[in-house]
Amino acid sequence: MTPEEFRAAGHRLIDWIADYRARAESLPVMARTGPGDVRRQLPARPPDGPEPFDAILRDLDEIIVPGLSHWQHPRFFGYFPCNGSLSSVLGDYVSTGLGVLGLAWQSSPALTELEEVVTDWMRGMLGLSEAWSGVIQDTASTSTLVALICARERTTGFSLSQGGLQAQPRPLVVYTSAHSHSSVEKAALLAGFGRANVRVVPHDAEYAMRPEALDEAIVADHGAGARPCAVVATCGSTTSTALDPIAAIAELAARHGVWLHVDAAMAGSAMILPECRRMWNGIERADSLVVNPHKWLGAAFDCSVYYVRDAEHLVRVMSTNPSYLQSAADGRVKNFRDWGVPLGRRFRALKLWFLIREQGVSGLQARLRRDLDNARWLSGQVRAAARWRLLAPVPLQTLCMRHEPAGAVTGEGEALDRHTLAWVDRVNRSGAAYLTPAILDGRWMARVSIGAEATERSHVEALWNTMQMEAER
Ligand SMILES: Cc1ncc(COP(=O)(O)O)c(C=O)c1O
Repeated sequence: MTPEEFRAAGHRLIDWIADYRARAESLPVMARTGPGDVRRQLPARPPDGPEPFDAILRDLDEIIVPGLSHWQHPRFFGYFPCNGSLSSVLGDYVSTGLGVLGLAWQSSPALTELEEVVTDWMRGMLGLSEAWSGVIQDTASTSTLVALICARERTTGFSLSQGGLQAQPRPLVVYTSAHSHSSVEKAALLAGFGRANVRVVPHDAEYAMRPEALDEAIVADHGAGARPCAVVATCGSTTSTALDPIAAIAELAARHGVWLHVDAAMAGSAMILPECRRMWNGIERADSLVVNPHKWLGAAFDCSVYYVRDAEHLVRVMSTNPSYLQSAADGRVKNFRDWGVPLGRRFRALKLWFLIREQGVSGLQARLRRDLDNARWLSGQVRAAARWRLLAPVPLQTLCMRHEPAGAVTGEGEALDRHTLAWVDRVNRSGAAYLTPAILDGRWMARVSIGAEATERSHVEALWNTMQMEAER
C-alpha cells in the first residue's frame, strides 16, 4: 500500500470507525454468535493475490462486527469500562503509523521522553508525590509480575545473579486476599513462588483484606521457617471494588520488611478525583503500584502505568545490556527496556497524551463524576426496591446485587443461583444491555459496572427497567 493508497483507504476507515461508534447504540450489546460461527465464514487459507479494500470493509461489516460484544456501547455494563476514547484511538494510530520502536532511548528519543512526561503528568493527576517513577506496560498483569520479581530479588539479595529461587534455603511467601485479581496468583506462579507459597489472607464483611490476619499469617510463616516476601493489596477489587486498607497493610509491610505492591488497575482512575483519594490512604508507603488508564480513564487498550519508588532497583533487576543496544547517551537517559519484560516497546505514551490533552484533566474528572453519580442513583433504586438487595458497598461505579423473588430465603440455595443466571442471561440475550454475573460468598449475583464513555443517566435508567422486567417476570 503506497502512502497515497493509504490516504484514501485511511479516510474511509476513519469514517467507518466513526460510523460504528455513532451507531453502536443500535446494535445488540452482546454478540449473538455461537462458538465457531465467525470462523466458519472465513476462508481457511489466505488469498493468493491481493484483494480490494472494499472486500475487507465488507467482511468487517458482515462477519466481524456481528461477532462482537460491544464494549463502547452505552449499555455495556459488563466486566469493567474499557474506554477507547476516540482521541486516544487517534494517538494509537499515530503510534502504529510512525512504526517506531523503543528498544533504547536512542532508537526513538521522543518515545522515551514523552513516556516520562506523560507518566509524570499522570502521577500529578493521581495526587502522588514525586518519589514515584512511572513506566507504561501493556497490562496490569505484566506490571504485577514485574512487581513480584522485584520483591523476590529484594528479599533474596539478587538471587537471579546466583542460583535463583532454586538455591534459596527457605521458601518465599506472597500474601494477597481471595478478592485480588487472578493476575496476582498468576504473577506469583510465573515469578517462581509456587502455589503452596501464596497465602490467601482472610477478608472482612466488605471483602477487604484484614490487616490483623495478614500480621498473623506473616508471623506464622516466620515461625515455620518461611520468608515473607511480598503483599499485594487491591484498591478496587474486580468483583466488588473492595478496598484493602493500604495504610494498615503498609505499616505491617514496613514492620516485617515485606514488599507492598498495590493493584489499583481499576480504581486508580478514580484518584484523579481528590475526593476519592482517601480510598488509597497510605499509598505513599507502597513499593510499587499499577493503574490502568485503559480501563475507566479512557486510554485505548493497552496502557497500564506502573510506578515504583526505587527505580534503581527495578532497573537492576530488569536490565540487559548487549553491545548492539548500547549508545553514547546511556547513563544520561532512561532505557525503558530495563523497566519491564519486553525489549521492543510500542509508542504507547501517545494515546495517553492525546487523551489527556484533548479532554483536559477537568474533562476526565467530569466524566468520572458523572459515572459515580449514576452509580449512586442506581444504588438508591436497588435499595428502595422490594426484593432487590445490594450485596456490597458501592465506593465507585460497580454494583453487586441480587433479585430475591418472593419465597426465596436470603442467600439460600441453588434455585436462587439459577434464577440469577437466568434473568441476567435474558437481559444479555435481549441485546438491551450487557452484564457479567459473578460469584460472591459462594452465590451468583449480578454485577453492574457503570462507566462506558457513552453511558448517560438515560442508559442506566433503561438498564434498571430491563433488569426489573427480566428478573420479575
Ligand atoms: C483489580 C484488577 N487487577 C488486574 C486486572 C487485570 O488487568 P489487565 O488486563 O490489564 O492485566 C483487572 C482487570 O479486570 C482488575 O480489575
